[in-house]
Amino acid sequence: MDQSQLKSLQSEWARVSGTHLRALFDGDQARFETFSASFDDLTIDYSKERLDGAAMDALMSLARDRGVEAARDAMFAGAHINSTEDRAVLHAALRATPADGYMVDGAKAADVVEPEKERFLAFADAVIAGKITAADGKPFTDVINIGIGGSDLGPVMVARALSPFRQASAPNVHFVSNVDGAHLADITRGLDPARTLGLIASKTFTTHETMTNAHAAQRWLTRGIGEDGVGAHLAALSTNLEATKAFGIEDAHVFGFWDWVGGRYSVWSAIGLSVALSVGGANFRAFLDGARAMDQHFLSAPLAQNLPILLALVGIWRRNAMGCDTVALIPYDQRLERFPAYVQQLDMESNGKSVNKAGDPVAAATGPVIWGEPGTNAQHSFFQLIHQGTDIIPVDFIAAAEDGSKLDGQHHILLANCFAQSQALAFGKTTQEVAVEMQAAGKEDAQIDALKTHRTFAGNRPSTTILHRRLDPFSLGRLIALFEHKVFVQGVIWDVNSFDQWGVELGKELAKALLPVVKGEASPDGVDGSTVGLIARVASLRD
Ligand code: F6P
Repeated sequence: MDQSQLKSLQSEWARVSGTHLRALFDGDQARFETFSASFDDLTIDYSKERLDGAAMDALMSLARDRGVEAARDAMFAGAHINSTEDRAVLHAALRATPADGYMVDGAKAADVVEPEKERFLAFADAVIAGKITAADGKPFTDVINIGIGGSDLGPVMVARALSPFRQASAPNVHFVSNVDGAHLADITRGLDPARTLGLIASKTFTTHETMTNAHAAQRWLTRGIGEDGVGAHLAALSTNLEATKAFGIEDAHVFGFWDWVGGRYSVWSAIGLSVALSVGGANFRAFLDGARAMDQHFLSAPLAQNLPILLALVGIWRRNAMGCDTVALIPYDQRLERFPAYVQQLDMESNGKSVNKAGDPVAAATGPVIWGEPGTNAQHSFFQLIHQGTDIIPVDFIAAAEDGSKLDGQHHILLANCFAQSQALAFGKTTQEVAVEMQAAGKEDAQIDALKTHRTFAGNRPSTTILHRRLDPFSLGRLIALFEHKVFVQGVIWDVNSFDQWGVELGKELAKALLPVVKGEASPDGVDGSTVGLIARVASLRD
C-alpha cells in the first residue's frame, strides 16, 4: 500500500467515522444481506463493521490496484513469491488432487506429495490398527509430538479441535514444544516408554528447542526400553533428511515434506502425522479436502463474494483506516481453544514486517496483534476492556450452528452469548437508556446520577462473525485455509513477504551466544549491563 492509497482509505474513514453502527443499521434494513457472504454453509457477517458501501468499494479498488488476484494466481502457479528465501509457496498442493495440476520448480507437485501422503497416512492407520507396534510387539498407547512453532501449533490445535473424531483404538497424542524441561518432564510423567511413540517434528531439524527435547526424549526411551528398541519408538517429520539420518531415525520412520511448505503452513504435510494418528487417515483426508474447497473458492469466487478477500479487506479497514492495533479472535467453540494461538503465529509471523518486498520501509501499518480465548470464558476476563476500555478492539467471532457436545440446550446458550456480545459491542446502551432502565427498577435519582455513566456502553465497536454448520475435519480444514488466504491477501496489499520470518533470528543467535555465559563457562565481557546483572543474579540465586 502506498501513501496515496493509505490516504484515500483514511479519507473514507473520516467520512464514515461519524456514523454510529446504530444509524447504519437503522438506515438499511438489508444491511446483513449486503455485508455478509457465504460459501456453502460458511458465512461471514461483517455488517457490524464500521463501514458502508462506498468504503467497501474503496477496499475493492484497493485489492484490484494492489493486484491481489494476479498475486494469488502467481502463488498457485508456483512462482517464487517467498523472494528473500527464493522459494515457491505451495502448501495448497498438499491438499490438492493430482488433477489440480500444481507445478513446483518445473515438476508436478503431486508426484512427490501423493506418495508421501500415502506413506504417512498408511503409517498412522497401521499404528491405530496395531499393525505397526512398539518394540515388544504390543500397540502404542501414547504418542508425543516434539516440535515448536508451526511444527506444534497446527497439530496441537487440530488434534484438540477434532478430538470427537479420535479413533477408538488410537493412541493418546501429547505435545511437547517448550525447551523448558518442565514441558517434557510433565508429559512423560505417567507415560510408559514401552508404549510410547515419539515424533520429532521439525522442518529444519535444527531448531534448538526441538532437538534438545528430542535428545531428552530419546534418552528417556533408551532408559525405559534399552537401546535396541528405540528405533521402533521414534519417527521424524522433516525436510532435512540428512539430519534425520544423522539423528539415527530409520528410513521407514522418516516422513518428508519440502522447502516450498512454510513451517506455519505445514499442518497439511507429514507434520500433521500426530493428528492422523488420532483421527485416522480418512478423517485427515477430509481435513485436506476442506482446505482444498477453500482454495478453489479463493481461486474462483468474484472479489465481492470471495471470503478470504473480504476478511482481509475488513482487516485492512480496521488496521489502516481505523488505526486499530489489535484483533481479538474469539471462538465460541471450546474445541477451538488453541485456534487463537495458531492464528497468532500464522498472522503475526507472516505479516509482522516493517519493510516491503523491496526492503524499503512500509508506507502503512502492517499486521496487528492477534490474541484471544474461547467464549464464553473470555466474557468473564477481558471483555470488560473491549466493551468499555479506551481502545477500540475489533473482534472476530467464530461459531458453529450445530452442537458439538450433545448436552441438551447448552449450545443455544453458547450461541446466544456469542451473538449478544457482538450486539452489545455494536449497539451499546446509551446513558438515557440506562437512566430509564434504572428509573423503571425504582432507583433514586441520586443513585441514577452516580451510576449512569458507569453503566453506559458507547457501542460502535466493530466485529465480524464467522459461522459454519459444525466443527468437523472438513470444516476445520476450510476454516484454516480461510485464515491462511486472508493473511496472504493482506500481505499482498501491504507489499510484504508473508513467507519469511527473519525477525525470529536475532533472539536465536543471542541465546546461542549467551548460553555459555549463563552456564558460567564464559566471561560476560562485552555483554550489556542489564544482562550481566540478571545473569549474576541467577548465579547468586542458584548458590
Ligand atoms: O519461530 C521460527 C520458526 O522457524 C517457525 O517459522 C517455525 O514454525 C518454527 O521455528 C519451527 O521450525 P522447525 O519446524 O524447523 O523446527
